[in-house]
Amino acid sequence: MAFRTLDDLDVRGKRVLVREDLNVPLKNGAIADYTRVDAALPTLRWLHERGARTIVMSHLGRPDGHPNPAYTLEPVARALSERLGVPVAFARDCVGEPAESAAAALADGGVLLLENVRFHAGEERNDPAFAAQLARLGDLYVNDAFGTAHRAHASTEGVAHLLPSAAGRCMEAELSALGRLTADPRKPYVCAIGGAKVKDKIGVFTHLMENVDAFCIGGGMANTFLAAKGVGVGSSLRDDDLEPARRIVALAESKGVALHLPVDAVVAPAFDADDRAHVVPIEAVGNEMILDIGPKTAAAYASAIEGARTIVFNGPMGVYEKPAYQSGTKSVGEAIARATKAGAISVVGGGDAAAAAHALGFAAEMTHVSTGGGATLEFLEGATLPGVAALELQPA
Ligand code: 3PG
Ligand code: MG
Repeated sequence: MAFRTLDDLDVRGKRVLVREDLNVPLKNGAIADYTRVDAALPTLRWLHERGARTIVMSHLGRPDGHPNPAYTLEPVARALSERLGVPVAFARDCVGEPAESAAAALADGGVLLLENVRFHAGEERNDPAFAAQLARLGDLYVNDAFGTAHRAHASTEGVAHLLPSAAGRCMEAELSALGRLTADPRKPYVCAIGGAKVKDKIGVFTHLMENVDAFCIGGGMANTFLAAKGVGVGSSLRDDDLEPARRIVALAESKGVALHLPVDAVVAPAFDADDRAHVVPIEAVGNEMILDIGPKTAAAYASAIEGARTIVFNGPMGVYEKPAYQSGTKSVGEAIARATKAGAISVVGGGDAAAAAHALGFAAEMTHVSTGGGATLEFLEGATLPGVAALELQPA
């Protein structure tokens, strides 16, 4: 892959339009995890120190093309400012007068964060007119948003064709760390996969199947697979459409890839009834809700992981935010840490996965903690990420 980096740009006094992935998890309006904010700092600090006029854009959540105060980036501007130690201005829109006047007010070394690009329908449609409105704000474009590089959106793809472009530091670090895994990964290769966004990941499952020897499945995703196999999952979170999961099961069987599913679970009568959490065999969920993998499952997953030389952790095994439901994710994380110490390459990918790894204290023991979710998995199966491909199209 050939693309320019910050080192190839002359940025002093220039307006540098930077796409970051500041799609942080929010809890009651507060930032619940700062991994993505911190991942943006090296690029922003470098630009600030060299006298660039930095204009940062990002999405937050999925507001579906309409302004929605629940998804404002304003708290992220404050967080960036604190962690960068530099004032970060905030513009109430990412295009038009509010953005243009805020950008014009920047001094050399100044930093501005624009409001959520997904407040405009043109972003996800990669509308050329919307990309042109964004491009007007900058002289140069830097894509540092590895976590959104799998989306061909106006701020990640369209704008790269309109301005001289380069990869930021986070983008560079991700591509180099993950690149070591896609070229001839060491076997056995195990993927611990979980979280709720199962529908989004069905296609990625299919592609990963080519490389991975075994999947250890947890979280809401596991419930969908269990339901597809006819196991009663009570009131657990799961997808309504079971057909994609059935196809994955059939494909795994035909390829000889192991799909490990829970044999026991931590259940409770309701999400908030943690005091009544208890372990049941997977056939005995009844009307209750599965909230974590059980201890037998955790032991089986740990042993699959400990035999691996390449490990991808994508998504928690349960509702790790609550102590009653975190032991599955903790066991898996500890197994990955042991395997890493013994020489395996381990990658944590996925907003939730990284948040869990930080919260449960095993992030520091991994080879690489990616800022990406879907982007990371797609990269690992060798897909071309539109945000990266667009950087390569630029003439040197
Ligand atoms: C992510 O968190 O996966 C990225 O920020 C991309 O967000 P999206 O999945 O809503 O496109
Ligand atoms: Mg995603």
